[in-house]
Amino acid sequence: MKQKLNEILTNGLAEIEKSADLKELDEIRVKYLGKTGELTQILRGMKDVAPEDRREVGSLANSVRESLENGLSEKLANLENAKLMADMEKEKVDITEPSKGVKKGALHPLTRFNNKFMEICVEMGFSVIQGPEVETDYYNFEALNVPKNHPARDMQDTFFISDNILMRSQTSNMQVRAMEKMKPPFKIVCPGRVYRNDSDSSHSPIFNQFEALVIDENIGLKDLMLMIKEILRRLFGENVKMRVRPSYFPFTEPSIEIDATCQMCQGKGCSLCKGTGFSEVFGAGVVNPKVLEMSGIDSKKYSGFAFGPGIDRSVMVTNKIPNIKYLFRNDIRFLKQMR
Ligand code: DAH
Repeated sequence: MKQKLNEILTNGLAEIEKSADLKELDEIRVKYLGKTGELTQILRGMKDVAPEDRREVGSLANSVRESLENGLSEKLANLENAKLMADMEKEKVDITEPSKGVKKGALHPLTRFNNKFMEICVEMGFSVIQGPEVETDYYNFEALNVPKNHPARDMQDTFFISDNILMRSQTSNMQVRAMEKMKPPFKIVCPGRVYRNDSDSSHSPIFNQFEALVIDENIGLKDLMLMIKEILRRLFGENVKMRVRPSYFPFTEPSIEIDATCQMCQGKGCSLCKGTGFSEVFGAGVVNPKVLEMSGIDSKKYSGFAFGPGIDRSVMVTNKIPNIKYLFRNDIRFLKQMR
């Protein structure tokens, strides 16, 4: 028995030493220490050993098992280490190779303009709100004093989804939604997409507007013009000039149209501003008392003013973009130039 154990030890250790990979090593483990392995069988047969020898044989068997286990784990570590080294050698990285460069993203020009405008409004105490692009006829038109069949509807070629549901043609819908929900006095601004059935180099069926609405006691045209002047100054710089023309919107009375120094030629006169040095920026006006009343605001106590700039035109002019469609195409070559 003792001799058998010594043989197992010598052979086992020799085989472990010779083994060249993890699979072979595992086979050796099974051969000696597995369920039906040579050493396991001897340990199982201990009951047949004469009682006086049992102690000695038992302790020898245990030390053989220990030696084999140690041998196996030592070899395992060696093999794993060798494999790691080989893998690392294969995956060697040449740190002197020039890099491909990290591509930097940038904000879309519309987003930049939007952020700038929002910042100005927030500094002036406006709350920013957002609302639905799929809207009812009521919020987009009727509550803004544009009843069905009103000729002012012709100015906005609207996409109707059904008789009463449409893609909002203006962010002015948010005036109504704000007046219904909020308690005066308040100032809100709503940036958002609007939709009209119109398409050429300066018109896109999707474009962007802001809607600003201020409701308070004793405010009127003078406050509106002062505020717009300050916004234009912050937006386009100290030297911007502003021009006001009378206009018509059913939801404001009086209604005005604001022009500002043409940002393409800085007022010198160019093809874009048709030599005038000015380009149109906003529609604005004092909120029609009828509109206040329809949304539940007491027009004897409160008054309001509103303005609604389209932003795409301004972004086109300030960035010298010849076609509005470029703003929506997501062409990376264009976006790169806009960084
Ligand atoms: N919603 C108008 C349009 O799309 C623009 C506008 C005009 C908005 C006057 C206003 C306003 O808030 O007071 O043509």
